[in-house]
This record gives sequence, structure tokens and C-alpha cells, in this order.
Amino acid sequence: MKILLLGSGGREHALAWKIAQSQQCDKLFIAPGNAGTTDCGENVAIGVNEFDRLKTFAIENQIDMVVVGPEDPLVNGIYDSFKNDETTQHIAVIGPSKAGAVLEGSKDFAKAFMKRHNIPTAAYETFDGTTIDEGLKFLETLKAPYVLKADGLAAGKGVLILPTLEEAKRELKEMLGGMFGNASAKVVIEEFLSGIECSVFVLTDGTNYQILPEAKDYKRIGEGDTGLNTGGMGSVSPVPFADKAWLDKVETRIIKPTVDGLKAEGIDYKGFIFFGLINVEGNPMVIEYNCRMGDPETETVMLRLKSDIVDLFKGVANGSISECKVEFDDRSAVCVMLVSGGYPGSYQKGYTIEGIEKVDGSVVFHSGTALKDGNIVTNGGRVIAVSSYGTNKDEALKKSFTEAEKIDFKDKYFRKDIGKDL
Ligand code: AMP
Ligand code: GLY
Repeated sequence: MKILLLGSGGREHALAWKIAQSQQCDKLFIAPGNAGTTDCGENVAIGVNEFDRLKTFAIENQIDMVVVGPEDPLVNGIYDSFKNDETTQHIAVIGPSKAGAVLEGSKDFAKAFMKRHNIPTAAYETFDGTTIDEGLKFLETLKAPYVLKADGLAAGKGVLILPTLEEAKRELKEMLGGMFGNASAKVVIEEFLSGIECSVFVLTDGTNYQILPEAKDYKRIGEGDTGLNTGGMGSVSPVPFADKAWLDKVETRIIKPTVDGLKAEGIDYKGFIFFGLINVEGNPMVIEYNCRMGDPETETVMLRLKSDIVDLFKGVANGSISECKVEFDDRSAVCVMLVSGGYPGSYQKGYTIEGIEKVDGSVVFHSGTALKDGNIVTNGGRVIAVSSYGTNKDEALKKSFTEAEKIDFKDKYFRKDIGKDL
């Protein structure tokens, strides 16, 4: 098969690494990819939202399958664009339709969907510019801290957790006043939930599903979960508290009702569903849905997935996912993210990265890198994920921390406490 993978981050390098291991993959292209994905296939200089160019490329290169990494093209309707065009409708697209991607693209839709299907999540109400006063009154009925969420995609920055009522009221007015542009034209206010988070992933063909290894990610920049939110500073799989009993609850209370609900509502969904969960006194609740894999969770989940991922993708496309076998590696996998100094605030790009070739026994996934004059240089906030196996998480972490020291670029930073809370 000829496969075209879309995206340019660590998630896509990890997906490319896994796809390239499949006997069924004859040729892999990555658009646009990064300096690391060239080890797995051929990079193509087309952006993930350039649908016409992607379709032309797919036809000219006889692509059989498109795997969509990030949410943006999904929310913009890449699945529908391929399916509604007779020159590309034969190509399997792994990722939901635009209607399905709304699970991630609109927090208000996702909350209402969960309410309709009795899926456990925090109590909430949604407000817009015409109901600011009602929103301010609703805040008064809640206890601190206050959770405000921009309805639309806001590059991971649209959730504010505020310690006082005064701040919550001020921020609500700011958000509805256009703080995140159109993304915060509507704001979801929800009850604060307290517990440890865990990400669970499935691949669905729209009727059945297979559950992939779960993972925990570390969102804050600082050790001890302090400081600003980032895209994710590391991940660990498996997650100790996510034992069989807990995951059974996730499946019966959350996964199955979600897949059944999508089908019942006539939403075409063939792809990944990412369940952002929180463990509230032993009970899983949904914090958010994403319509794609997580980053940096993919950098550990792919290490633990023993099955051929292209087989699973074919099951997704053909409606036969229930016949696929999913095998997990019993070992632990972790990843530690090396980031640019200053991230998630402003940072410099273009620093030469050295020492990658010295890494031994870990898998190096590139997140934000580029090739410049034959050198690998930093090209983003999150630069490189160092992923490792171990018989347990501590052994895997020790390995990643050791190997992370061998890679060098100016102002490199990484958290040394990944996995320590579990
Ligand atoms: P989201 O973009 O919805 O995943 O939210 C970003 C982060 O905000 C989550 O990963 C949680 O850490 C936190 N968060 C979101 N909603 C809640 C909530 N209702 N209670 C507590 N924390 C939350
Ligand atoms: N790791 C969280 C995300 O991918 O959204």
C-alpha cells in the first residue's frame, strides 16, 4: 500500500515509525513531516490544510490511504473533501468526517453530546455574547476554582482555571469579548473536577472499536506540575491506576456509549477517538474528546502497540475493526520531551541539535526539527521526544533521562519528574 501521513510533530514521527514497520506499507509519504520523519519515508512539502494540493498529490502518486495526524485538517473537513470528490473517494481516510471532528472542534457540542448519551462529565452551561449576565450569575452558583473553556479550537490555550470568582467573572467577559477570536464566541463554564488524568485511545470504524494502550501526559512546563500549560512534556504508559476494573468502567460508561452515540446520530466517524479522562474517586469522567491521537502520548502508545497498525487502519476503513487483534507490549514505555528554552512563551528557533547519533537503546522522535544546510536544527517549542522501554516505568524513565542528556542544543530544557507522581 501507498500511504500518505499528514502532520509534522512528534505524534506524526511516532505514527510514521510504526507505519513503516508494517509489511503492508510499500511506500510512506509524510506531508509536511520533519527532519525525523525522513528516516521512515519521504517528506512532501505540502501543508496539512492544502486539500487541493494533497488530493492532486494523492492521485498522481496512487495513494491508497491517508492518515491524518492533527485535528486542524479534520475540523476543516479533509475527510469530506476526499469522499465528496470522485477522483479521491476510493482513498481510505483515517480520521473522522467534519461532523465527527466537532467532538473536538466544539466543547459545547461535546458537552451536549455527552449529556444526550449519559456519559459522565462535569456539570456545565454554555454562554455567548447575548447571555453574559446569565454566565456571571451561573459562576456565583459554583465553587472555586472556576473552569472556563473557549468553545472552539484555541491551540490548546482555550481552557482557563481560575482561583477566585472575581477573576472568573473578569475572564468570562474577556473571553466573550473576543480573547480567543471566534473560538471564544461561546464559552463553556463547568464544574471543577479533582483527580489524576489519563488518556485513553480507540480506533473505530464507526460501529466497533479497538482500545489502544492508555497513557498519562504531563502538561505543565514546570516540575511538580507548576507553571504554564504546554503541548505536553512527557508521557507514561501503562498508567498504574488504570487497571482492568477501571478500564472496564471506561469502556462501558464512556467508550461504548460514545461510539454508539456517534452512530445513532448518523455521524461518519472512522478514525481515532482520544478520551481525555479524569479519575474522580475511582470513577472515570470525560474532560475532553479529541478526534486524533495525543502528543506526546503517541510517542509511548506506539511503542506499546505490538499489532500491525496498517492492519488496524484497514479494519477502520473497511468496517472490520472488530476482526482485528490488538496486542500490547507488556513493558512500560515513557517519553521525555526536550523543549526550547522559553517555551511555552517565546523562544528561538534554528539552533543546531547535536548528539542524536549517540542515543543508544531509546527511540528518538522529532517534534519540532528541520534540516538546514545538512544540520538538524530546532524548529519549534517541543523539539525531541526521547522514548524508552523498561520492565517498569522507573527503568524506562531512567533510560530516557540518561539518553536525554546526550542530545544537546542551546537552552534545552526537560522535566526530570515525569512519571514520579504515579
Ligand atoms: P481540555 O483542553 O478540555 O483538555 O482542558 C485542559 C486541561 O484543563 C485539562 O487537561 C485539565 O487538566 C484541565 N481541566 C479541564 N476541565 C477541567 C475540569 N472540569 N476540572 C478540572 N480540570 C479541568
Ligand atoms: N497530549 C494532549 C493532546 O495531545 O492534546
